[in-house]
Amino acid sequence: MASDYLWFEGIPFPSVGYRTEDLKSVKNEFVVRDGDVIMLSFPKSGTNWLREIISLIYSKGDPNWIRSVPIWDRSPWLETKAGYEQLQKKEGARIYTSHLPIQLFPKSFFDSKAKMIYLLRNPRDVITSGFYFYRILKVCKYPQTFDQYFEWFLQGNVPFGSWFDHCQGWLQMRGKENFFIITYEELHQDLRTSVEKIFQFLGEKLDSKELNSVLKNVSFKAMQDNKMSNHTLIPDTFMDHSQGQLLRKGVTGDWKRHFTVAQSEAFDKIYREKMVGLPPGLCPWGP
Ligand code: A3P
Repeated sequence: MASDYLWFEGIPFPSVGYRTEDLKSVKNEFVVRDGDVIMLSFPKSGTNWLREIISLIYSKGDPNWIRSVPIWDRSPWLETKAGYEQLQKKEGARIYTSHLPIQLFPKSFFDSKAKMIYLLRNPRDVITSGFYFYRILKVCKYPQTFDQYFEWFLQGNVPFGSWFDHCQGWLQMRGKENFFIITYEELHQDLRTSVEKIFQFLGEKLDSKELNSVLKNVSFKAMQDNKMSNHTLIPDTFMDHSQGQLLRKGVTGDWKRHFTVAQSEAFDKIYREKMVGLPPGLCPWGP
């Protein structure tokens, strides 16, 4: 069933679950509300980790919600047909997730006070994670080899387009009060401090018992064992569970086991060219 993409305004989307009319409407008509909380990332950056963290922040560390409601119902995908329908019906403030590049995001967001958390990950690990993921997800192009996927990624010929454009686009928002940047690497390095920063940004308060419960329930192992979060509820028609899982390794630096020296050098060069203008130190993986 592995298939090509749905293209919208030059950006490739998975071929199932997305519709041109929704993407148009999301951009032009969807009304972002001031109380909304949005998680924004390029695919394979650790989005589901952040989703689990946010769920648990709002449940004050109580795991009942994450164990009884699928992750995509707790924070629907704005740009999917199902997620968009759900969000339009929901009253009041909403929590949702998106991979959209800035130029396709709802225009109304930019005049709102909605809070956005932009999650970044070392793009080398994003490539590595994506290679394995798109070999099990049956609604996108199937990469035969790592080399092939590496090339696609550099060309922006992967779901949601060019990682470089995605980053450069969203990072224009840095410094805005309602825009918070966090990296996968920071979550790894110091999860406690990262979660504290996130709930402070959201204006929430958690005592130490609640925070400890968040930390316990968002561990790689806990998420791997939680069927509401590990994506095993996705039918086999869309995801080949015999070939791998969303929670694959959950480490930083796995790219080193995959990139050749030539790929590593080529990537560094392109990264330096494309990411020009970003303040040093913004991304912990360096240039
Ligand atoms: P790997 O494939 O490198 O293991 P996304 O949610 O954006 O699709 O990202 C998936 C990546 O995040 C996968 O990376 C997955 O293992 C990692 N991830 C998900 N939950 C995690 C957790 N609790 N701890 C560490 N990594 C996690």
